[in-house]
Amino acid sequence: MPGRNDGEAVGGSELRALALMVLAAVAIVVPLQAFCAPAPIIRATLYPALAADGITLVLIGATVFLAWSAWRTLAVSAITWIVLGLVGTTLSSNGVLDAPFSLALGSLGVGMGFAVATARMLGRFRAALGWRQARLRALSVRLMSVQEEERRRLSRELHDGLSQSLTAVSSYLWLIEKQLPEDLETLRRQTAEARRLLAQTLGEMRDLSQRLCPPLLGLYGLLPSLEAHLKAFEERHRVATSLDADGFPERLPVNIETALYRITQEALTNVARHACAHRVRVKLAVTEGDIRLEIEDDGIGLPTNDGAARTGTGLTGIAERVRALDGTLTISSVGGTHLRICIPQVAIEETSPDADAAPSEVNGRKTFPTLSPASHEEHAAKLDA
Ligand SMILES: Nc1ncnc2c1ncn2[C@@H]1O[C@H](COP(=O)(O)OP(=O)(O)OP(=O)(O)O)[C@@H](O)[C@H]1O
Ligand SMILES: [Mg+2]
Repeated sequence: MPGRNDGEAVGGSELRALALMVLAAVAIVVPLQAFCAPAPIIRATLYPALAADGITLVLIGATVFLAWSAWRTLAVSAITWIVLGLVGTTLSSNGVLDAPFSLALGSLGVGMGFAVATARMLGRFRAALGWRQARLRALSVRLMSVQEEERRRLSRELHDGLSQSLTAVSSYLWLIEKQLPEDLETLRRQTAEARRLLAQTLGEMRDLSQRLCPPLLGLYGLLPSLEAHLKAFEERHRVATSLDADGFPERLPVNIETALYRITQEALTNVARHACAHRVRVKLAVTEGDIRLEIEDDGIGLPTNDGAARTGTGLTGIAERVRALDGTLTISSVGGTHLRICIPQVAIEETSPDADAAPSEVNGRKTFPTLSPASHEEHAAKLDA
C-alpha cells in the first residue's frame, strides 16, 4: 500500500539529519561572521548577516508554525534572497553601507536550504500522521461494524436457536407433568418448578437478545429505541429517566443511529453500576447540522484519579465510537457525570454507508433524510452478507 511505511521512513534518521544540518549551519555561519570578516568592516558585515539569520529564523518558523510547504518556502526564500541581494548591491554602490553583502547572501542561502529541508520533512511527517489517523479511523469504523455484526449474529442465535430449544424443553416438561400420576406430588412440584425456571431463563434470554440487537432500532429508528431502553432502564434500576429530543430528525444514517444508541446504552449501564444516581437525563439535538448527545446523571461523579488507572473498557469504547465519526467527547464530573458528544455534519455525510443519507438544504437549514425501515434493513442485510 503506498505510503504504508511513511511513518517509519520519516523517523529517527531524518531527525538526526535535521540536527546535523542545524549544527553544520552554526558551525559555518557563526565562525564566518565572527572571525572571517576583516576587523575594520566587522560591524558593517555583521548587520546584513544578522538580518539574513533573522530572515532564516522567520522562514523556519513559518514552516513549523504556519505549515508552509517546501515549494512555498523555496519561493519566498528565493524572492527574499533576490531582494536582499538587490538592496545590498544598491546600498553598497551608493556608498550608504560599506558592507560586503556576499556573506549575508551566503548565510541566507544556507538558511534557505535549512528552511526548505525543514518544510519538506515536516510535510512528510504531517502526511504520515494524517495517513495513520485516517487508517486508525477506518479501523475503528470496521471494528464497530464487525462488533455490530457479531452482536446481531449472537442475538439471532439466542432467539432462533437456544430460545426455540428451551421452549421445546418447557413443552415436554409440561407434558410430563400432566402425565405424572396424582400420588407423585413431589415430582409434579419439581417439574412445575423446572418449567418456572425455564420461563424465567427464556425471558432473560429474550431481554439479552434484544439488548444485543434492539429490533426497534432498525425498524423505527433511534428515538423509539431510546425511549423503550430508558423505560426498561427506569423499571430495572429505579432511576428516573428523561429524554429530550425536540426537533431531532426521525431517522439518521444507520451507522450514526447505532453509534448514538450504543453510546447511550453504555453510559446508562455506567450510571446503574457506578453513579448511585436518582436521575439521568438524555438530550439529543441538532445544532447547525452537528449532532449533539448529552447524558447527565446526578450521581457521585467519576472517581478522582489518584494515579489509579481505570480498568474498564466502556468509556474507551464510547471514545472509539466518537472518534470513528470524527466527533468530540467531553466528560465532566461536577454534581454527577456529564457526557457531551458532538458529531460534526461533515462526518455524518462522509461516514454514512448510504449515499442517500446526506443532509439536504430546506429553507436554508440542513435536514437529514428520513431513511425508510427498508433501507436500514437493507444495510443490515449488506452487513450480514
Ligand atoms: N456515570 C458514572 N458515575 C460514576 N462513575 C462512573 C460513571 N461512568 C463511569 N464511571 C467510572 O469510570 C470508570 C470507567 O468506566 P468504564 O465504563 O470505562 O468501565 P467499567 O464500567 O468499570 O467497566 P466496563 O464498562 O468495561 O464493564 C468506572 O469504573 C467508574 O469508576
Ligand atoms: Mg462501563
